[in-house]
Amino acid sequence: MRPATRAVHLGRPPHEPDQPLNSPITMASTYVAGGDREYGRYTNPTWTAFEDALGGLEGGRCLAFASGLSAVGTVFDLVGHGEKVVAPRHAYNGSIMQLADLELRGRVTPHLVDITDTEAVVAACDDASLVWLESPTSPAMEVADIPAITTAAHEAGAYVVVDNTFATPILQQPLESGVDLVVHSATKYIAGHSDVLLGAVITRDDQLYEVLKGRRDLFGAIPGTFEAWLALRGLRTLPLRVERAQANAQQLARRLRERRDLAEVRYPGFGAMIGMVLPTGEVADLVQHSTELWVYATSLGGVESTLERRRRWKSEAVTIPEGLIRLSVGIEDVEDLWEDLSQALDLAGR
Ligand SMILES: Cc1ncc(COP(=O)(O)O)c(C=O)c1O
Repeated sequence: MRPATRAVHLGRPPHEPDQPLNSPITMASTYVAGGDREYGRYTNPTWTAFEDALGGLEGGRCLAFASGLSAVGTVFDLVGHGEKVVAPRHAYNGSIMQLADLELRGRVTPHLVDITDTEAVVAACDDASLVWLESPTSPAMEVADIPAITTAAHEAGAYVVVDNTFATPILQQPLESGVDLVVHSATKYIAGHSDVLLGAVITRDDQLYEVLKGRRDLFGAIPGTFEAWLALRGLRTLPLRVERAQANAQQLARRLRERRDLAEVRYPGFGAMIGMVLPTGEVADLVQHSTELWVYATSLGGVESTLERRRRWKSEAVTIPEGLIRLSVGIEDVEDLWEDLSQALDLAGR
């Protein structure tokens, strides 16, 4: 099955008389003993349906988590005491904050790199135990050479993880490049409607799968049943949404690059996230408060377009320009998006 078909058909009950077409919401804290399920912290049929579908799209076995960050934290927990973690200097600030917190407690030794500098990343892999990649990165929109870094990391004996939230499995399947673990904030494109928090880890390595499942069982960072069901419902249209949002983003990036009032437009050519850099933080603030259609909000990957000046967060890297606005392009009509964005830019530039 091709991805668009997989997104629609995986994770459904068998095609048998009287079976529902969709996986039901199974609300259960426990199960009748004697089978494989036993208790609600270990598994749930609605999670499994979601995991089968997302795992099928990424090409591995999936574990759903309570949020993207609980998935991230469970992966960082694989790192042995004091061991080295290579990570992007620009990445989702929550992931970087987790690393900083682990460093503070002596748990890991982070080594932050510019992931576009493959040579530097490869050199940093030496004596690392985990290489964390996000590609494209939030909010700098940098892209890593995943196959080259994976080869070097494996030679050094390190695991490689890719946060695939921005690209989604529709545009990038890191496991195909030999990456050990893929992480998602399924809150974003996977669920796709800004109404759910959910995370996921996907792997082809059975041993890693069992270790991560063991951590989830033990610490209880489990998804809500309704959240898993909503995310599965959202995932059914992931290929359509990504295709449309990406087409909109490509149009918008091209038009934004023609404007003279932007210092820079960061768009890697794929996906639906854009970084546009205004001359100052003040002008960027004006822009984000002057749109009517684009919603000023954090988060991304919903059907609706949102925008946000990232340095409004104290935790954002200081090397991110003050004037950078991150655009999450939705699936609206691109002309409406353009009209609204250009009037806000015009207004702020006056
Ligand atoms: C790239 C990326 N990874 C991870 C996360 C964390 O996910 P969550 O908010 O679902 O915990 C986010 C959230 O913004 C993100 O953008």
